[in-house]
Amino acid sequence: MPRLAHHLTQQKVDIELTTLIGVVADCCADIAALLRHGPMSGILGLAGAENIQGEDQKKLDVISNDMLKEALEKSGLVKGIASEEEDNCVGCSPDGKFLVLFDPLDGSSNIDINSLVGTIFSIYAAPDKTDIGDDDFLRPGNEQVAAGYVLYGPSVMMALTTGQGTQFYMLEQSKGEFLLFDDNVQIPKDTKEFAINASNQRHWAEPMQAYIADLLKGETGPRDKNFNMRWVAAMVGDVHRVLSRGGIFTYPWDKKNPNKAGKLRLMYEANPMGFLVEQAGGKAFTDAIRILDVEPDNIHQRVPVILGSANEVDVCLGYHA
Ligand code: F6P
Ligand code: MN
Repeated sequence: MPRLAHHLTQQKVDIELTTLIGVVADCCADIAALLRHGPMSGILGLAGAENIQGEDQKKLDVISNDMLKEALEKSGLVKGIASEEEDNCVGCSPDGKFLVLFDPLDGSSNIDINSLVGTIFSIYAAPDKTDIGDDDFLRPGNEQVAAGYVLYGPSVMMALTTGQGTQFYMLEQSKGEFLLFDDNVQIPKDTKEFAINASNQRHWAEPMQAYIADLLKGETGPRDKNFNMRWVAAMVGDVHRVLSRGGIFTYPWDKKNPNKAGKLRLMYEANPMGFLVEQAGGKAFTDAIRILDVEPDNIHQRVPVILGSANEVDVCLGYHA
């Protein structure tokens, strides 16, 4: 099984981008090692602060954010970073070639129940200037040069795209190295599996109500087949299932928080996952347009998300047309 750097070189990925992806991967291997120690390490529980979005930060949100920030700053390859856990972007090396955005620990409510969490990242070419601010990060997902996530599950896996399909790598724990095990991840076009937080059902807009109601009718309804439902409560876990065996995952707008466009963050979650899903033959939309075509106006912006098996995403969008 080829090593990560070896495979990226085979794909003729830019040498500095290859090095940068290696820095992220190594840091995630360190986060994985920390997570393995679990409750014995004293790193579980609340940090005692809120992030800019008003969510309680867990100690591990802060620790993994700091680990990534430090590794990226030290690399010399990164002009600036933006993180779900930072109020504003952070400038790094003035002549760094890249901007990196990340959700350091996605699904962190799963930490205390020893369930799936992950790190999601998105990489852009940096603009040609020395002083950068939040506005320099406001570029659509279709400009990403790489995106991926590391899933801290029973085995530690990375999904990665540099625009040449989507690949899965597995962390070889004894060596601390990521090895390629699927060089062409393909999401089946059709599916019988959906993922949505159904407890919000009464708050959804009418099109999503109608779509899910028809899925639930199964083979006696208009879809003529029975659907299964899954919800990991960590986007990395749900998207990993979709990449592995197909499915549709959605976190729609709902009127519980009518002023929020959705729950998931465009720059740290929807864009990198959208890139990975499209590169694996799936689709990723808001309720109206392709996620990767959304022109961001704020680094912490939220969007509705509908992604996964291409034909099923089309069906869901049909209810919204
Ligand atoms: O980062 C936000 C997030 O934790 C996602 O990882 C996940 O898909 C979603 O929120 C879970 O939402 P809920 O708490 O409504 O199940
Ligand atoms: Mn998250």
